[in-house]
Amino acid sequence: MSHPAPADPAAPAHTEDDIRRLVHGFYAKVRQDETLGPIFNARVADRDHHLQLLCDFWSSLTLGTGRFKGAPIPAHARIPDLSWPLFQRWLALFHATSAELRLPGLQAEVDAMAERIAAKLWSVWQDRAAIPSLPDTLPDGLQPYKDSPVFTPENLPDALKAAHSTKAGTWGLLKVHAGVLRFVLDDAPHTQVVLTAGQRVVIEPGLRHHVAFELPGSFQITFCRKHADT
Ligand code: HEM
Repeated sequence: MSHPAPADPAAPAHTEDDIRRLVHGFYAKVRQDETLGPIFNARVADRDHHLQLLCDFWSSLTLGTGRFKGAPIPAHARIPDLSWPLFQRWLALFHATSAELRLPGLQAEVDAMAERIAAKLWSVWQDRAAIPSLPDTLPDGLQPYKDSPVFTPENLPDALKAAHSTKAGTWGLLKVHAGVLRFVLDDAPHTQVVLTAGQRVVIEPGLRHHVAFELPGSFQITFCRKHADT
């Protein structure tokens, strides 16, 4: 039997093999598409690596494997000449492929995720010229003294979702390990940044800020203070 009933009722009813079928089936369609095909063919040099990255992406999102370490937001912000009709074409091919899997649960899950991510990628692409940035390197002379727990959507304290600040003299270096996190400065300059795996942001002492997961993932904060205080 290709899909034995999982022992744990909360366990996903699909496997890595189903994800592979989805990704490979989808990219076979994309490559033959007259509008999307040329974009991928021009920009993806190592096709096997790209397919593996995409399998990791969907496996992380639907099976929680945490294998995906890429950065989709900047990857798409760099592509010239995207348009919403192009995303609609992408989504039409994706929905056609997910329907062919004959796994209604997985189909509904990935279709909804793809719609949400496409809307996000399109909105970031439109704003790409104005993508704000915040410092990602701590000033000299600071010593790390504590790491926070690894936060995920499940254990993220409410206090971090509302405006708060570090205590006087304490700096934070927030590192996103997986997923997509929005970091908002509630104090001037009132900027916000959307961070993906591997990206960091410096939290200055006393500056009020809060965070929200845009896509499930994890992050951690290293707290630092001036060397003399330690
Ligand atoms: C018009 C629609 C889209 C086009 C033309 C497109 C095109 C591309 C291209 C050319 C790359 C390779 C970029 C590079 O290596 O520099 C890429 C990467 C990727 N795409 Fe898309 N894409 C589209 C929509 C989407 C959507 C809706 C999703 C997710 C639901 C998605 C997920 C990804 C992921 C996860 C990567 C790997 C990013 C990384 O390098 O970390 N794409 N896409």
